[in-house]
Amino acid sequence: YGDYNQKIDYVFKGVLIGDSAVGKSQLLARFARNEFNVDSKATIGVEFHTKTLVIDNKTVKSQIWDTAGQERYRAVTSAYYRGAVGAMLVYDMTKRQSFDNMARWLEELRGHADTNIIIIRIGNKCDLANLRAVPTEDAKEFAQREILFFMETSALESTNVETAFFTVLTQIY
Ligand code: GTP
Ligand code: MG
Repeated sequence: YGDYNQKIDYVFKGVLIGDSAVGKSQLLARFARNEFNVDSKATIGVEFHTKTLVIDNKTVKSQIWDTAGQERYRAVTSAYYRGAVGAMLVYDMTKRQSFDNMARWLEELRGHADTNIIIIRIGNKCDLANLRAVPTEDAKEFAQREILFFMETSALESTNVETAFFTVLTQIY
């Protein structure tokens, strides 16, 4: 950690996609810096964060890209997906629309990303259990049909965030 001579065995690019306000940027903030911001502003363009992890004795540097869910703030699509080996499709468990829109996001991903890309579907905001609008079973079923991994997370409470990123990273190599 913080060692400039650290040997990196693998470098991976991952991308976050999904509707605006589902919590993509906060999932990344939680994963990369263990931070959470209640007043998170909509992302404009592209941001990315890196995190170096040790998985099975290998040093894995992940570079996770985050873009705007809002069409008008989005970056060039092809550049965003180029070289990505992992993708996290995020919806908000309390917003059915963000779940239904996953089909669109998946279509865009299939159109631009490498065919071997590892995809995980994430139902975020599981801390708001009483506002749930998407049953876990619906999400599981969709994931199985499309051969995606699936997990419910909370960036706010730090539930399953690291596990979700780990799931993608361990599948990649
Ligand atoms: P765009 O950048 O516009 O695409 O949105 P985004 O998907 O990056 O959403 P962002 O991370 O900015 O979060 C949107 C709002 O949801 C913010 O008010 C966050 O504080 C809130 N939020 C994010 N994750 C969680 C969570 O796990 N639980 C709860 N309760 N709120 C969350
Ligand atoms: Mg964002």
